[in-house]
Amino acid sequence: MRRLAIYPGSFDPPTLGHLDVIERASRMFDELIVTIGVNSSKKPMLSVEERTRALTAATLHLGNVRISEFSGLLVNYAQSVGAKSIVRGLRATADFEYEFQMAMVNRRLNDQVDTVFLMTKWEHSYLSSSIVREVAVLGGDYSGLVPAAVVPIIAKALDTSA
Ligand code: PNS
Repeated sequence: MRRLAIYPGSFDPPTLGHLDVIERASRMFDELIVTIGVNSSKKPMLSVEERTRALTAATLHLGNVRISEFSGLLVNYAQSVGAKSIVRGLRATADFEYEFQMAMVNRRLNDQVDTVFLMTKWEHSYLSSSIVREVAVLGGDYSGLVPAAVVPIIAKALDTSA
């Protein structure tokens, strides 16, 4: 049986921490779908198209990874693509409560789908999309925080929004 997993997130923008989770999960599963949650009530820094381009460019070296987007319930999306596993990264204890709650709700909604947590690498444990957004919007150097291919996509997005 082909082991298919989804790795959902906002990815606004994708960070080196996300890429690390993607690389490790892609070794654990036959196929990994990195899927961008579309939340129309949030005003993102990068559009869904920009995030799709950023993730595609950052994962070109991984043959079993593809990028998608979803809206609505995550477990419904998992079921629609035939995935039995949801991958999430865990950084510090601060993530735990939110992740625990989400995993419990998702299991209640569909107990055929399990959430698999990967602990972040130590060197990425302080990284989050919101920290990168703040540094980028305030004109700081974010180039060591996101995959190299993502840097020009953020730069262009900020340039055109200025
Ligand atoms: O990167 P993020 O912002 O932590 O990702 C959150 C995401 C998109 C995975 C989460 O908000 C989500 O699954 N949204 C879909 C709505 C849903 O299924 N809600 C029920 C579970 S809490």
